Amino acid sequence: MSLQVYERVSLKALNSFGVEAQARLFTEAHDDQQVREALAYATHQQLSLLVIGGGSNLLLTRDVEALVLRMASRGLRTLSDDGQRVIVEAEAGEPWHPFVLWTLQQGLAGLENLSLIPGTVGAAPMQNIGAYGVELKDVFVGLTALDRETGALREFSLTECEFAYRDSLFKRQAGRWLILRVRLALSRTAALHLDYGPVRQRLAEQGISAPTASDVSRAICAVRSEKLPDPAELGNAGSFFKNPLVSAALAAGLRRQHADLVAYPQSDGQVKLAAGWLIERAGWKGFREGDAGVHRLQALVLVNYGRATGRQLLALAQRIQADVAERFGVALEIEPNVL
Ligand code: EPU
Repeated sequence: MSLQVYERVSLKALNSFGVEAQARLFTEAHDDQQVREALAYATHQQLSLLVIGGGSNLLLTRDVEALVLRMASRGLRTLSDDGQRVIVEAEAGEPWHPFVLWTLQQGLAGLENLSLIPGTVGAAPMQNIGAYGVELKDVFVGLTALDRETGALREFSLTECEFAYRDSLFKRQAGRWLILRVRLALSRTAALHLDYGPVRQRLAEQGISAPTASDVSRAICAVRSEKLPDPAELGNAGSFFKNPLVSAALAAGLRRQHADLVAYPQSDGQVKLAAGWLIERAGWKGFREGDAGVHRLQALVLVNYGRATGRQLLALAQRIQADVAERFGVALEIEPNVL
């Protein structure tokens, strides 16, 4: 067997929060065959299999009594190109941002707004990553996954993935599907999404009136770097809560009390609130207890100043949830996978 399995491996460097937790067993898969071997190995050891990509959407609150499989498959390719629409395919283990840069270098637009998102290609569909007015689903055409129950390969089309805001079939059926490779439709003629004020503003400041996709990518990187902590410097998992969807009546009631409430009406009549605004208004922005804290520039991001444990971070999150529920009557949902 080509698979290398290690015992009692620290996961500290493999989760972007940088919390300490041990995997009972750990391995990496570089291709489909090794993925199958890892599944068989876990079954043989009577252990469950925990699949991780970049570990950037994960909060570990205890040691992991499982075989942890890090997807390390690499490969980027163009599947078709009609001179305008180009279908590219990337293996699950490809780091996301370098993949975005690879597409931009080839003159392809579509992923520029998703620049600098941590994590891997295989993890992107799990929560339908999104930023600055674009979600993965907007460019997605299909993916290949392994059915962990039957061992069969299955192709998923866009509609079959049931993408929604930070949600997908794969997230809802956690543990069933193992994503192997993802296909996206990109474009040689850029239809750029510049609805987001700070991005437009940055381009204007630089005197760029007709931006290319690469210009937009650079602006997005700058905007992200200003507000969001770099996990290499300060442990975090990006937004720790989803922006909550509430009824129009609740939003209107809150607006009467808080004229500056940040709220985005949705097509179905519901209203999406900015969780960062609610958390900041509840007084948590910049809060720190021990090494667990709320980022001082973006209240939606919990941070690990060094030695915070997953349990401490989770306890902080729960205090914030309770406080926001009491003050505003809004339930905040945790975004990363808590283990
Ligand atoms: N806000 C505050 N205080 C804060 C943070 C935000 O008042 O501490 C207000 C802002 O002033 C703004 C509004 O909330 O009016 C929205 O803030 P921002 O544009 O920074 O976006 P967000 O809603 O906080 C979402 C995503 C981010 C994504 C940005 C940009 C979620 C859970 N988060 O954050 O995604 O980068 O929009 O599109 O939807 C992630 O998922 O990890 C992530 C970083």
